Amino acid sequence: MTAPVADRPPYGRLIEDDRVHGSLYTDERVFADELERIWYRTWVYVGHESEIPEPGDYVVKSIGPQSIIMSRDRQGVVHLLLNRCSHRANQICESARGNTGALRCQYHGWTFGTDGSLLGYPFRQGYGPDTPKSGLGLGRVTRSDSYRGFVFGSFAAEGPTLLEHLGAAREALDRVARLSPVGRVELTAGWLQHEVRANWKMLVENETDGYHPQFVHSSIFEVGESHVAEVYSEKSAATARDLGDGHTEHDLRPQFRRHDVPLGWFGTTEDRLPDYCRSMRAAYGDGTAREILVDGSPHIMIFPNLFIAEIQLFSIQPLAVDRTVQHVTPLQFAEAPDLNRRLLHQVSGSVGPAGFLLADDSEMYERNQRGVAALRPEWLVLRRGLNRERIDDDGHLAGAATDETTQRGIWRHIRTLLTEEESA
Ligand code: FES
Ligand code: FE
Repeated sequence: MTAPVADRPPYGRLIEDDRVHGSLYTDERVFADELERIWYRTWVYVGHESEIPEPGDYVVKSIGPQSIIMSRDRQGVVHLLLNRCSHRANQICESARGNTGALRCQYHGWTFGTDGSLLGYPFRQGYGPDTPKSGLGLGRVTRSDSYRGFVFGSFAAEGPTLLEHLGAAREALDRVARLSPVGRVELTAGWLQHEVRANWKMLVENETDGYHPQFVHSSIFEVGESHVAEVYSEKSAATARDLGDGHTEHDLRPQFRRHDVPLGWFGTTEDRLPDYCRSMRAAYGDGTAREILVDGSPHIMIFPNLFIAEIQLFSIQPLAVDRTVQHVTPLQFAEAPDLNRRLLHQVSGSVGPAGFLLADDSEMYERNQRGVAALRPEWLVLRRGLNRERIDDDGHLAGAATDETTQRGIWRHIRTLLTEEESA
């Protein structure tokens, strides 16, 4: 499966510290290498346990182009199964979600438990006594693990644990969870899917790009009554941070602390969500609750596909070198019904069919993909903020709000993953 080293693009030369080659977004060979060395090797976000609360629940998810069934078996254990019948490869699950005692293949009727085991096949005599059911279960993602209900899968038998992979990004998932008075995220609002004709890395790079919002999102800033536009300006106290291992964040807390308004990050005030604020104070105490409400939700891109953008969560799915799907859902929190309602409305406004935000970004992705196909100049420039980068108190590379510290961090990690064996 692995191409000889000599046939692979020379990633060490195509990915420099402050610029990357355009072919990395258009070359089919690069995409094939990325599937093998990134998507089918590293930990990839698949779904959240709250999407399958009951035994027998399942949802269809993905790891890159692979369709994955995330299920909960009768004992309550979560499984990540490949959506492919072990008989002659028919796709088992067509519906996006459901609850069942058994998954039945439509082609010849083989049935499987929600733990992936083969339960039976019609007309048993045809198989004779020496066809064991035990090796004929559904394929499964080699490793799966979860943190705070966020379920990740990896096709690599060995390698870093999920916690090692998450590294410094783990704390952001804690920060999300504590926005619930009982510390639980619930992704129960359903999903929208947006497909774009663009390479997946353009999306990943854009998620923590603080340079574009003033230009691409000026229309939403003009209609919204919030301080968001200031967050993405040269005067912003927000920080673009490389958390290592490809994870990047746009830490908006310094800017929100400057304003010091509870729920300011959400463009609202405490009197609009009195029940929620009361529950938060009861759960965490006045001081901590206030801190949580001022700091708000993170803006973090957990490599390679989990993007949490304050009020919503995206899962990025590459389908081809120039085709990517963004699955998006509003964040929802246990024991916070009034907050949840408002989140749902805001997310409709940002990424819904008539939303202001994602449509603008998607337009940029597609223009980028068309632009990068041009023959000259061959390189994309990622120099912004190199002159003012610093190491922060936690040892991470940090830049100003509009700097390309995050993009450089993402590419450093991609270069490591794509060249690992060459240097081994
Ligand atoms: Fe599924 Fe034949 S392919 S039962
Ligand atoms: Fe944007």
